[in-house]
Amino acid sequence: MSAAVFDDPEPSVTVRAPAKINLQLAVGAPRPDGFHPLATVYQAVALYDDVTVSEALDWSVRLAEPIPGVPLDEDNIAIRAGRALTAHHGTELAAEIVIAKGIPVAGGMAGGSADAAATLVALDRLWDLETSDEDLLAIAATLGSDVPFALLGGTATGVGRGEVVTAVPDATQCWWVAVFSHEGLATPQVYRHFDVVAPDADPAPTLDQELIGALALGDVAAVAAHLGNDLAAPALALRPDLAATEKALRATGALGVLVSGSGPTMLALFDNGFSARGALAELQEQGYDCAIATGPVAGAHQVTYG
Ligand code: C5P
Repeated sequence: MSAAVFDDPEPSVTVRAPAKINLQLAVGAPRPDGFHPLATVYQAVALYDDVTVSEALDWSVRLAEPIPGVPLDEDNIAIRAGRALTAHHGTELAAEIVIAKGIPVAGGMAGGSADAAATLVALDRLWDLETSDEDLLAIAATLGSDVPFALLGGTATGVGRGEVVTAVPDATQCWWVAVFSHEGLATPQVYRHFDVVAPDADPAPTLDQELIGALALGDVAAVAAHLGNDLAAPALALRPDLAATEKALRATGALGVLVSGSGPTMLALFDNGFSARGALAELQEQGYDCAIATGPVAGAHQVTYG
């Protein structure tokens, strides 16, 4: 075997990044820059986007399978991630980006953020840029509030506008049943409606320490008792049909029910796979489009080797 085989650069790199849910999403009154201060507890769950990058003359992005509602131009967050990384390193390199989506689009599960995080890691590996974790997190924060968490994965608190993340111990194995909507919700619209329904929001929301304690103990029932999402009210106001979904989820005997982020994905929490699979079957029987996602899982990670 010639040495050239080993010297050849990798033609492509694939990185997988998870969806997130917010076990707690406490939202404060908007800051002068328009963003809302958050106190959130993220958990990465087992729904994934896979991003494959290969070097090219110009930036491009496409979906492995077409899905409406995803921009395929310079507005795509994966291209913005690629440009931010090359600007950071002062290079003129460009890449073709192919995204295989397993995370719902505009579903409140940070699919776009997962694509951005996966693109950062994939290009870093493709070009051996050896970007420090600190720099990757800083670049991620410029792309979107949830992008640093998509790098980190696991379970973490998020403050600031959600971009200041700190890992927390999580001994749970959570079994979520996620119910998807055919129509997404635009995050900025949900935040704007939050300002309407919560005009007196606390400017400085705080993390729920009892939730964080329950995670450390691995107590899923206690986690369920402390689930909270301040964006649930505006999401339900914008999408009144979600009330029926919530009712259907509660009827499965779930330990807790939650709107995912800014919605419209809805979540039911179980502490074991048997109950979750039973609920999934019941909901599918009623015509809901749903899936099981366990958490916590790892953040963006390479899935091509050799
Ligand atoms: O940071 P990201 O790009 O995900 O935010 C999308 C939109 O969601 C923002 O433009 C803003 O309207 C809203 N947002 C907010 N406060 C946050 C995070 C997001 O108002 N903490």
